[in-house]
Amino acid sequence: MLNFKKGGLFSRKDEPEQDVLQEIGAQVLAVWGSPGCGKTTVAVKLAKYLADRKKNVVLLLCDCTTPMLPCICPSGELEGDHSLRSILAANSITESLIKNNCNTHKRMSHLAVIGLQKGENENCYPPVNEKLLRELMSVLHDMDSHIIIDCGSSIFFDELSTIAILEADAVLRLINCDLKSVSYLSSQQEYLRMAGFDSDKLYKAVSNVKSNEASQNMEQVLGKAVFTLPHSPELEAQVLAGNLFADLSLKDSRGFRKEIQKISKEVFGV
Ligand SMILES: Nc1ncnc2c1ncn2[C@@H]1O[C@H](COP(=O)(O)OP(=O)(O)O)[C@@H](O)[C@H]1O
Ligand SMILES: [Mg+2]
Repeated sequence: MLNFKKGGLFSRKDEPEQDVLQEIGAQVLAVWGSPGCGKTTVAVKLAKYLADRKKNVVLLLCDCTTPMLPCICPSGELEGDHSLRSILAANSITESLIKNNCNTHKRMSHLAVIGLQKGENENCYPPVNEKLLRELMSVLHDMDSHIIIDCGSSIFFDELSTIAILEADAVLRLINCDLKSVSYLSSQQEYLRMAGFDSDKLYKAVSNVKSNEASQNMEQVLGKAVFTLPHSPELEAQVLAGNLFADLSLKDSRGFRKEIQKISKEVFGV
């Protein structure tokens, strides 16, 4: 049996029940799911969707093993070269600390991105403490912005992503249409349960669905997925080029664009 820290994240049983999502929509969304399923891609596209509609949005990239800031767009697109490291190294979190470490998009002034920079890793800030991470979530929640958090897959080893999932208003859970994803999710269920995760705030989606994959099969295993994000070769090319804030204009991206619109409407009311 796994050895859980006493008083740690996974030993809490009686988490107070989260408020049911109000009609006005969520403010903080955590995007989580199985490894490589498209979490970062979808989080970036959702952030762009909101920013294009002149909504303030902060995109927090949680992956501290593979910093994603250098992967999502050319560095020249962002104002500044601030790092999540400075936030995680602080003694306490304030709104101005967060704002000072945001990298604003030069063309989309409503969009700010926070993440580790190229070459950084988990060792460039002190060991994370749960109180600081909860404070971070609380301050983000009080900001005048929508917050989209691109989480890592691993709950047990990544406290930042775990706290984000626990504290967010809503969680968009993505999986690929394959047994490996289903197996991964099953392996994480116990952690979520132990940490007191509120499954009422969960939106389920299948991601990067290719035309030969039967999403109906997934439904048999997981129940009905609310959203289906189709594979888009144009999007794949954008990921390869590290240019995710570009528009998706080709016809074969229409299904993906429509689904992002649907998710935004459902989750944020935008
Ligand atoms: N809808 C999609 N269409 C095309 N490719 C996709 C789509 N969603 C994800 N991908 C591909 O899946 C890979 C992993 O995506 P990424 O967002 O980095 O996943 P994660 O953050 O879950 O690890 C990328 O190479 C990306 O091109
Ligand atoms: Mg990712």
